[in-house]
Amino acid sequence: MRFVVLVAFSMKSSSSFVCESCGYETPQWYGKCPECGEWNTLKEFQISNFKSQISKNKTQEHLKPQKLSDVKFEEKVRLSTGFSEADSVLGGGIVKGSVVLLAGDPGVGKSTLLLQIALNLASQKVPKIGRISADKNTKNVHPKTSSASSTSTTFSTSVLYVSGEESEQQIKYRAERLGGQKDPNLLLLSSTDIDSIASLAERENPSLLIIDSIQTMTSENLQGLAGSVGQVRYSTFQLIKVAKGMGIPVVMIGHVTKEGMVAGPMVLSHMVDTVLFLEGEKSTQTRILRSFKNRFGPVDEVGIFVMEEKGLVEVTDPSNFFLTKADSGQVLTGSVLTSTVEGTKPLIVEIQALSISSKLPMPRRIASGVDPKRLELLLSVLQKHVGIPTYSLDIYVNVAGGFKVSDPATDLAVCLAIVSSYRSIPTGKTVAIGEVGLLGELRGVTLLDKRIREAKKLGMSKIITSVNFKTLRDAVVSLGQGTGENT
Ligand code: TYD
Ligand code: MG
Repeated sequence: MRFVVLVAFSMKSSSSFVCESCGYETPQWYGKCPECGEWNTLKEFQISNFKSQISKNKTQEHLKPQKLSDVKFEEKVRLSTGFSEADSVLGGGIVKGSVVLLAGDPGVGKSTLLLQIALNLASQKVPKIGRISADKNTKNVHPKTSSASSTSTTFSTSVLYVSGEESEQQIKYRAERLGGQKDPNLLLLSSTDIDSIASLAERENPSLLIIDSIQTMTSENLQGLAGSVGQVRYSTFQLIKVAKGMGIPVVMIGHVTKEGMVAGPMVLSHMVDTVLFLEGEKSTQTRILRSFKNRFGPVDEVGIFVMEEKGLVEVTDPSNFFLTKADSGQVLTGSVLTSTVEGTKPLIVEIQALSISSKLPMPRRIASGVDPKRLELLLSVLQKHVGIPTYSLDIYVNVAGGFKVSDPATDLAVCLAIVSSYRSIPTGKTVAIGEVGLLGELRGVTLLDKRIREAKKLGMSKIITSVNFKTLRDAVVSLGQGTGENT
């Protein structure tokens, strides 16, 4: 009886309002989003079709709870992307039947990465199927998925690459640039009609479906332009049906724009299984693939790539990659190395600083790769506890290699690089690891042993941490002495 009431209710309610900025959903329109406070971001979204369909499925489902002890771990079939960095970010590869959103700024390299993955799979350079058994998933699979999984032995690596942004010729041109062969297992389609794409995918039954991008997809069943909340959510819902119903993994691209995205990834993140971000400045070659949400793997894991002439190349030895090539460390001032942990990886990165006396009433602070607010705080600590007149200095801080750090363990290196530049103290190959507190004290950081091991692996012997120095002042004094304490 309850279900009948539920169905009747959901059939009646016809629209809801969704915030384009944060994804907040409400049955009522507001000028200002109650969740994120943005103005004019609530857009109407028709929901009657979806809800009635979901409710119908529910009435057919035979609900039966299982005892905890009876729940079995299910083996997940995963598809290797051909990039070990991308596989590890995904938790071991793309899970069959999962929906992955790859988000990032326009031009960062999303289409390039997915086309390279498509080429890797289609040319079968990678293992067809990887079986990973450690997933703690319960047995309540969708009925269609379980029937599809029985055909997993015939699972072949064919890829359907659908682009709403480029023609087939353009994709082919890019594929040739990336060194891809004309491969019959890679099917290209230039279309934006999501309903036809969904039925094509069901007919073709590819091993992987790629959608570039979700913001270009539209349906005639719905009003609104491509990229509107309604269209994007409807399109995603269609793709989820394909993924869960047929067991076809879907990877879709979502653009993030500077002005706050148009029905962007935040609206979709709760609908999909995995959200990955490809980050990087266009002016530098470094690209970081990060996982923000993953139902089938770790979050906050990172993969590091560089964009080259022939597409993205994995960086398997990132610590070495981020170090300055010039080995004149003994005479350089303003450069201190540090260790930042990304996911579970400790990376050695170089912090560079330039401190010069300023003629401006408001001295310049330029931070690249470091949080500007954190830099302000560290400059105040340097002034108060070390006596550096930061109020009269223009200060520039940069992380070499275009890397962004947010780990507090990098504080000490930022401070020491600024002092090294201001007092012209050569730092050699000093590694500094520690969080700086407001009282000028050095605080311990997570995974210190792992960070120190990584630094030593690269041949660094002068390592300054909160273990050998208790205050920032002491650490600064040790810079001048040029010896430091070996850890
Ligand atoms: P693209 O994948 O089109 O970005 P997105 O899909 O995220 O919008 O990448 C575009 C940029 O990448 C463009 O500036 C050119 C550069 N690029 C290379 O440097 N090397 C390559 O092999 C390719 C294909 C692109
Ligand atoms: Mg693109």
